[in-house]
Amino acid sequence: MDLSALNLELAALSTEEVVRKLYALDPAGTVLACSASIEDTVLLHMLAEAAKSAGRKPRAFVLDTGRLPEETYQVLEDCRQKYHFEFEMVFPESQDVEKLLRAKGPFSFYESIENRKECCHIRKVLPLKRALSGATLWITGMRREQSVTRADVPFVELDQAHGGILKANPLALWTEKMVYDYASAHNVPVHPLHRRGFPSIGCEPCTRAIQPGEDFRAGRWWWENADQKECGLHVKS
Ligand code: ADX
Ligand code: SF4
Repeated sequence: MDLSALNLELAALSTEEVVRKLYALDPAGTVLACSASIEDTVLLHMLAEAAKSAGRKPRAFVLDTGRLPEETYQVLEDCRQKYHFEFEMVFPESQDVEKLLRAKGPFSFYESIENRKECCHIRKVLPLKRALSGATLWITGMRREQSVTRADVPFVELDQAHGGILKANPLALWTEKMVYDYASAHNVPVHPLHRRGFPSIGCEPCTRAIQPGEDFRAGRWWWENADQKECGLHVKS
C-alpha cells in the first residue's frame, strides 16, 4: 500500500469521510483504542456511524490497567448504551501484576522512570499487543497539538511495533476546540474529568488536573520531563 498517496488522499476529506474510508478497507479488522477521553468518544461516534452504514457494530478496546479512574467506567457505560455495542476490555496478565506488586508495592511508578515504564509495560503495552491480535487497522485519538512527542503524527502510518498493521490518527490536525465543538454538536459522551481541569486522562494515580497555562499533558506523570511522557503505547520500532 502506498501510504504517502493514502495520506494525501485523506488530507482532502472531512474527518468523518476519513474514518468511513479507512473503515471500509477492512470493517472486521478495524478497532478503536478507547481511553474514554473526549478524542476517543468523538472517534467512537464517527466509527459507530461508519459501522452502522455498513450494517455492523463498531469495535473498540479499552486497556483496563486496573488503575483507571471511576469516571472512566461511567463514560464507557454511557457509550455502551448510546452506541449499542460492547467494549473489548483487555486486562494485564494477573501473574505479571501480582509479581510487580509483591516486589515493589502499589506505587512503584513514583520512584523512578524505569519503574514507571515497567508498570506501563505490564498494564498497557503487553495488553495492547493482545488487543491488536487479528486487527489490520487501529485508530487512536492522538492529536499533534497534544505534545512535543506528537508534533508529526500522520493520518495513517505503518505500525511496525505491531506486525506492520495500519495505525490511523484521524484527529491528527484537530484543535481542542474542534473536538469540544464536535462533541457538543453530536451529543457525544464527554469524560467528566475534562471539565475538572484534566485535558488528558490516564490512570488515576498518574494523572492530575493542570493549572491555567500549563501544557496539555502536564498532568500526566507530572513528576517527569515532557519529552519522556509516553507510556509505550505509541512507540515506533
Ligand atoms: S498515553 O499513551 O499517554 O496513555 P493518551 O492518553 O494521550 O496516551 O492517549 C492517546 C491515545 O492512545 C488515545 O486516544 C487512545 O486511542 C489510546 N489509549 C490511551 N490509553 C488507552 C487505554 N487505556 N485503552 C485504550 N486505548 C488507549
Ligand atoms: Fe502504571 Fe501509571 Fe502507567 Fe497506569 S499510567 S500503567 S498506573 S505507571
